[in-house]
Amino acid sequence: MENFRFNAYTEILFGTGQIEHLSRSLEPYGKNVLLTYGGGSIKKNGIYDKVMELLKDFNVIELDKIEPNPRIESVRKGVKLCKENKIDVILAVGGGSTIDCSKVIAAGNYYEGDPWDIVVNPSLIGEVLPIVTVLTLAATGSEMNKNAVISNMETNEKLGTASTKMIPQTSILNPEYMFTLPAIQTAAGTADIMSHILENYFQKTKGAYVQDKISEGLLQTCIKYCPIAINEPTNYEARANLMWASSLALNGLCGCGKSGSWTCHPIEHELSAYYDITHGVGLAIVTPRWMRYILSDDTVDKFVEYALNVWHLPLSEDKFALANLAIDKTEEFFKSCGIPSTLTELGIDRSKFDLMAEKAVKFGGLQNAYVSLTPEDVKNILIDCL
Ligand code: NZQ
Ligand code: ZN
Repeated sequence: MENFRFNAYTEILFGTGQIEHLSRSLEPYGKNVLLTYGGGSIKKNGIYDKVMELLKDFNVIELDKIEPNPRIESVRKGVKLCKENKIDVILAVGGGSTIDCSKVIAAGNYYEGDPWDIVVNPSLIGEVLPIVTVLTLAATGSEMNKNAVISNMETNEKLGTASTKMIPQTSILNPEYMFTLPAIQTAAGTADIMSHILENYFQKTKGAYVQDKISEGLLQTCIKYCPIAINEPTNYEARANLMWASSLALNGLCGCGKSGSWTCHPIEHELSAYYDITHGVGLAIVTPRWMRYILSDDTVDKFVEYALNVWHLPLSEDKFALANLAIDKTEEFFKSCGIPSTLTELGIDRSKFDLMAEKAVKFGGLQNAYVSLTPEDVKNILIDCL
């Protein structure tokens, strides 16, 4: 295990009824609130009305229509609203897209230039407005981490930025708020949670046993509860376990003490940057192909660990057969949750693969991944995904 610094700054208010603490969570920062949300799901399921009722003593300015795969244009709009209205705190109500967009707005409020600069170069992030979130989708872990991913469709770039100052102050996690999630978002969100864990589980660092055991437990949580949440959308226990797994998967707990670049995320970000696909869907397609591509004498033992401890497959003398079975299980699981299993199903062909592969390696630092990949390797993986 390597040296690390771990901080879980965010106050989590978890469970039914915790929304009643919303005004108390905002009050320390001031009265001027920028309320951010997406395309309208919170208006349909009543969360918006509840939030507005609780904000009656605040001055609320709204930024709506934040896109899935949030665009830099929404960030620019939000920064303008903050500056014009002397906003004290941002309240993000939604999934990762709304929260990520809000984080960059919060940083952009103190940046004089175009906010795209602070996406490309996180070292330009200075002060950041405080952020409070009400989570409605278990997936990204954005409710408890420092990351934000923003898309620039003009340049076909989807890039991650990060600053500890962008970590939300408080996040309200009510599993009931996910009862209205469509099955595909439940599945894609779970694939995203699993990918966050797998990206850290498969790393070169040895001896991070505790992180790996936590990771295996979280993966099993996803495997157990995603099908239940899909079949019974209002099952509180299933939603609660997925919701908390999402936060724990990417708040630093699984990745601390390990190093190395991630692989599937940079590849998926290229797919979203060119085709605007759902993040978790792209990951569910890429992940099993990547696993199969990197399976070798060097990696097989880790895959055996994955097969035995996550999928509980019976021990076998043939390590490669066991590893392949675990990869099959991964692929079948995503399919059984209703996620498309090929890029062809999403209407994606190979025409942009060369460019995407180059960019994935460049932006993702894939030479430093668990198994170092060249653009040609990435292109081969993408071809396997067709
Ligand atoms: O926009 P609305 O109308 O709210 O609908 C959303 C959206 O269409 C809907 N939805 C959310 N909660 C709902 C609901 N519908 C019904 N009931 C509810 N309770 O779901 C759709 C997807 O929402 P979105 O916020 O886009 O999903 P997600 O949370 O998966 O976020 C994806 C974004 O986060 C980035 C992804 O790349 C993508 O841009 N990521 C952020 C990370 C981070 N900050 O650490 C890490 C991740 O790896 C990821 O890259
Ligand atoms: Zn992700």
